[in-house]
Amino acid sequence: MKILLLGKNGQVGWELQRSLAPLGEVVALDFDSPGPLTADFSKPESLAATVRAVAPDVIVNAAAHTAVDKAESEPELARALNATSPAVLAREAAARGAWLLHYSTDYVFDGSGSTPRDEDAPTGPLNVYGQTKLEGEEAIRASGCRHLILRTSWVYGARGGNFARTMLKLAQEREALKVIADQIGAPTGADLLADLSAHMIRAARTDASLAGSYHAVAAGETSWHGYASHVIAFARTAGVPLKVAEGAIEAVPTSAFPTPARRPLNSRLSSAKLREHFGLVLPDWRAGVERMLTEVLGR
Ligand SMILES: NC(=O)c1ccc[n+]([C@@H]2O[C@H](COP(=O)([O-])OP(=O)(O)OC[C@H]3O[C@@H](n4cnc5c(N)ncnc54)[C@H](OP(=O)(O)O)[C@@H]3O)[C@@H](O)[C@H]2O)c1
Repeated sequence: MKILLLGKNGQVGWELQRSLAPLGEVVALDFDSPGPLTADFSKPESLAATVRAVAPDVIVNAAAHTAVDKAESEPELARALNATSPAVLAREAAARGAWLLHYSTDYVFDGSGSTPRDEDAPTGPLNVYGQTKLEGEEAIRASGCRHLILRTSWVYGARGGNFARTMLKLAQEREALKVIADQIGAPTGADLLADLSAHMIRAARTDASLAGSYHAVAAGETSWHGYASHVIAFARTAGVPLKVAEGAIEAVPTSAFPTPARRPLNSRLSSAKLREHFGLVLPDWRAGVERMLTEVLGR
């Protein structure tokens, strides 16, 4: 199997380099990859030549415009990366009978209610990022290519910046913290997503009826405040010197931190379809977060 991996240096892309390796030959690119093959999503049509040159059986797209607030002031770039480029990949995949695996987000929903959403729930993005990611999904579905779309949430990886690392840093610098407590979701590891992706590609290649859209998040739920509290408690137990006092992590509403982009309050996604169709298990969010912390703390 020949796999074209795009966005290889992002959180998920980095883990995919590992998880896809046993499946076959992986051609992994980023937008500034040296050499003749380009993968710059700000130039969507340039991706067609790359797909034709590589001639993959599977395209895995981990590239995206993920800066949610920045997307509000650069919607054209966000659209090129999140919608137009995936549309080109889907068109090329359809033309050569390749599979396309792509990632999307809980931000395609408006975040109303308090129950987990399934894949057929009505969409209603609140911001440019969510809107352009939804457009990307729709273009892939309309292209007729064999695809797997994984909607996920609150992604973290051991490599690069993420919310957990920011909280660790702040806990070492400040005596008190304020963290949003009314947005609810599931922190999901880039490593888990990459492993799920490899298993799903393998299964779908032998059973094309598995093609479609899936919610893929770690089990359980928490708020950003619950997430931060868990991270800091873990670090304290591990002996990391912290400035923040126990009980000094204040729960605040979203309105306490105004941002350019509106965010959904209810980010709960149900992964029941993925579990049932692929027979895969999604571990509790704490297990992955603790593993990542063990790795970054070096203990
Ligand atoms: N992060 C989350 O919380 C989250 C939540 C839900 C869904 N998702 C989805 O999950 C997928 C993977 O996300 P992630 O967390 O791994 O994101 P990420 O770490 O931001 O990775 C995205 C990658 O795309 C690259 N990129 C930026 N501009 C590009 C361009 N012009 N051409 C090609 N590549 C470009 C980025 O490079 P630079 O880093 O050098 O800019 C980065 O390597 C995305 O589809 C995202 O929408 C993420």
